[in-house]
Amino acid sequence: MPKESKTAVVTGGSSGIGAVFARHLAQRGYDLMLVARRRDRLDAIAEELAGQHRVGVEILTADLSEAGDVGRVQERLEALPALEMLVNNAGFGTRHRFVDLDPAMHVDMVHVHVTASVRLIRTVLPGMIERGRGAIINVSSLAGFIPMPKSVTYAATKAFLITLSEGLAKELAGTGVRVQALCPGFTYTEFHDAAEFEGFDRSDISRKLWMPADDVVSESLASLEAGRVVCVPGRRNRILLAVSRSWIGPALARALARKRWE
Ligand SMILES: NC(=O)c1ccc[n+]([C@@H]2O[C@H](COP(=O)([O-])OP(=O)(O)OC[C@H]3O[C@@H](n4cnc5c(N)ncnc54)[C@H](OP(=O)(O)O)[C@@H]3O)[C@@H](O)[C@H]2O)c1
Repeated sequence: MPKESKTAVVTGGSSGIGAVFARHLAQRGYDLMLVARRRDRLDAIAEELAGQHRVGVEILTADLSEAGDVGRVQERLEALPALEMLVNNAGFGTRHRFVDLDPAMHVDMVHVHVTASVRLIRTVLPGMIERGRGAIINVSSLAGFIPMPKSVTYAATKAFLITLSEGLAKELAGTGVRVQALCPGFTYTEFHDAAEFEGFDRSDISRKLWMPADDVVSESLASLEAGRVVCVPGRRNRILLAVSRSWIGPALARALARKRWE
């Protein structure tokens, strides 16, 4: 019997958490569409996955801070017959005070994290609802719960994705379409290798707080199966979040803020 085809789209599929999502989903038999800017990286991952798992892998180079590029991705998504999963994962961080950060970076961040995610979700949802199945994973961050100096727009855009996911999950109850906000803490990827993080030293943060991207993705997919809308991977991250929400939280936030302003 021919296998039932199911397709997943992963934005930011060229490295880090997105590339790991692509690997896990290929293992589960999904055909893939990977979206990002670096064609060479997408080509290499596509070749690896198509060879190892005998799935179809399409790549689409797009800069999701550009409205026209998001439009091209939307057109391609509309043409996909059986889209089963959308992972809105593309993103980047900054570590300047709000007022010191290049205004264009604030705007690009809002476009990549918020505008592109909203546009892609709006594109794929009608088909998923009609088919009575599908899943949307929005990669947010622990920062979405804990606003902090030098990550102001980052945390705000990630908080948007949490609220968006929670609201959508309520609207979509009973439709067969699942939604998740994935909120990782520090994760080993290329995120902190960007020029913006020059001088950042991973060892300044306790090793106990870092997670491999593979564990983040495994927890996300298990959590999706279990029907949880907000996924905070890693026991230590869940403890950190609980502490930040308790009476200790504000004092801790003030101490952290002082450190980050030094
Ligand atoms: N690593 C962490 O500690 C951490 C913690 C919490 C949340 N997250 C979130 O996890 C997600 C994935 O990040 P990562 O940690 O895996 O970092 P990463 O290895 O740097 O991956 C980021 C991905 O986003 C893509 N991307 C960035 N800007 C883009 C743009 N303008 N257009 C299209 N694609 C773009 C990159 O592809 P190209 O460069 O090829 O375009 C890359 O594939 C992000 O949303 C991030 O906020 C990360």
